[in-house]
Amino acid sequence: MATAPDSQFPTIILDSQEESETLALGQRLAGALEPGLVVALQGNLGAGKTRLVKGIASGAGVDPREVTSPTFVLVNEYSGRWPIYHFDTYRLTSGVAFAELGIDEYFAGDGISLVEWADRVPDWLPPDRLEVTIEVTGEQTRRLTIRGLGPRAAEVVRRLNS
Ligand SMILES: Nc1ncnc2c1ncn2[C@@H]1O[C@H](COP(=O)(O)OP(=O)(O)OP(=O)(O)O)[C@@H](O)[C@H]1O
Ligand SMILES: [Mg+2]
Repeated sequence: MATAPDSQFPTIILDSQEESETLALGQRLAGALEPGLVVALQGNLGAGKTRLVKGIASGAGVDPREVTSPTFVLVNEYSGRWPIYHFDTYRLTSGVAFAELGIDEYFAGDGISLVEWADRVPDWLPPDRLEVTIEVTGEQTRRLTIRGLGPRAAEVVRRLNS
């Protein structure tokens, strides 16, 4: 774990040595989240975005077996400590198609929105969001870079750092 001091946004870097650790990091992240936040997940195919969502959901009291990639429905809803809205924009043809899912209502509500492939729809995401970038650093290792892009998301990074 290290803090990157040169970033203009509060940042925390977390390394995962194996899949179970990514789940645990998701649970830890859930403990720092608060209702209404949007978490923008980015990283290549197979980086571990859905695994991290499983961890976050399980940290919020959802059975991780419920968590699957939203495909035909495009958004999955899980009910835990707060509602979780799980989006995957990979198959969407445009940002407008994302907006048409009713994102304004999801983002304005009391749930947590988790958006896979968030970098495909940057213009449609709220400015105050938590950005999680997952890099594949080895067959079983991943690096998570978490940045708070606005005041509420920055608080989450501060809580993770403390
Ligand atoms: N440390 C790790 N953390 C997370 N996943 C890992 C790790 N090591 C290996 N893996 C493997 O990487 C894959 C991650 O899959 P996952 O579906 O979470 O990726 P994704 O980023 O959601 O991909 P997609 O873009 O297809 O949605 C799984 O096969 C998992 O077993
Ligand atoms: Mg996925």
